[in-house]
Amino acid sequence: MTVRIEGVLEGVGPRVTGWARLPADPARRLRLSVLLDSGSGNVLRLDTVADRHRGDLESAGKGDGCHGFAVAVPAAFADREHDVDVRLPDAPGMRLTGSPRRAIPILGLVTLHAIRPGGGRANGAVDRLRDLLADLVRLHGGSIATAVPDAETIRSWLSVSAQDTADRGWLVAERNGRFVGHCRIGPGWPAAPGSGGLALGIELHPDVRGHGLGHALMRAAQRWADGRGTRLELAVLPHNAPALALYRTLGYADLGPVAHPITGETHRHMALPLPSCRPFPRRLSNGITLVL
Ligand SMILES: CC(C)(COP(=O)(O)OP(=O)(O)OC[C@H]1O[C@@H](n2cnc3c(N)ncnc32)[C@H](O)[C@@H]1OP(=O)(O)O)[C@@H](O)C(=O)NCCC(=O)NCCS
Repeated sequence: MTVRIEGVLEGVGPRVTGWARLPADPARRLRLSVLLDSGSGNVLRLDTVADRHRGDLESAGKGDGCHGFAVAVPAAFADREHDVDVRLPDAPGMRLTGSPRRAIPILGLVTLHAIRPGGGRANGAVDRLRDLLADLVRLHGGSIATAVPDAETIRSWLSVSAQDTADRGWLVAERNGRFVGHCRIGPGWPAAPGSGGLALGIELHPDVRGHGLGHALMRAAQRWADGRGTRLELAVLPHNAPALALYRTLGYADLGPVAHPITGETHRHMALPLPSCRPFPRRLSNGITLVL
């Protein structure tokens, strides 16, 4: 019989953090092995037990909440890039949601650009965008077959963005030849049809969050949207603290609650009028470069 475990690999910085539990046996504390660079000849194994109390887990109904773990990464690994995976000796073969991941202490060179519709290089870009979307869905534990648009759907959405004044575009952040973040701008919820508002959705791969890239991609989106719409609009879940903090820093106004048209879930509706007045440097901090 397969043992069903629940758990998430959350942080992979100087500490590897997350939680894990066995719903069928809530009092059990699961053993974990954190593997650093497991595919290499230089693998490091750090054993621990998921038994730390976390208020957020308890309030989310995860038993008594004593299912968290946090393992310090030795200094020799902490200052360089490495792969992080987690094995569960009590449930071999099971994976924590959000694993495996790559710990990235220094972001290095990242370019931000808009995907161009059409053949040639654009086709490669669409495939790489799809790879990123699939990776994000896999890390959330979702189904790639139902949650990721196929390349043809992406191409046909992009085909409308051929003109300079088009009201839709897909920006990506590229690092070491891989897309690590994306931001889609165009008509759609929560912007009312015909209002001139453009809806924006952003997501970065968890490996590259917290380095200022989200901020840079949002500013790039602002620059791209200037002259194409009257304002940028987005909907954010009220408990998404990193996103809310970012939007407030960028000057987005909170227009109040708005229900998702399909799930009914309450979001905060936020908007930024265009044109934006702050100048945008081509080369940003952290080696991030803008090529729109
Ligand atoms: C939201 C998101 C795009 C932010 O990108 P990011 O690169 O991690 O953010 P940045 O490093 O640019 O930080 C920008 C600001 O966000 C806030 N922030 C970032 N990480 C945070 C965290 N873990 N907790 C709280 N605030 C945080 C800070 O206010 C930061 O400002 P600072 O520079 O003064 O510290 C990114 O976290 C993400 O992709 N999240 C998952 C998808 C998502 O939630 N999308 C938005 C849906 S509406």
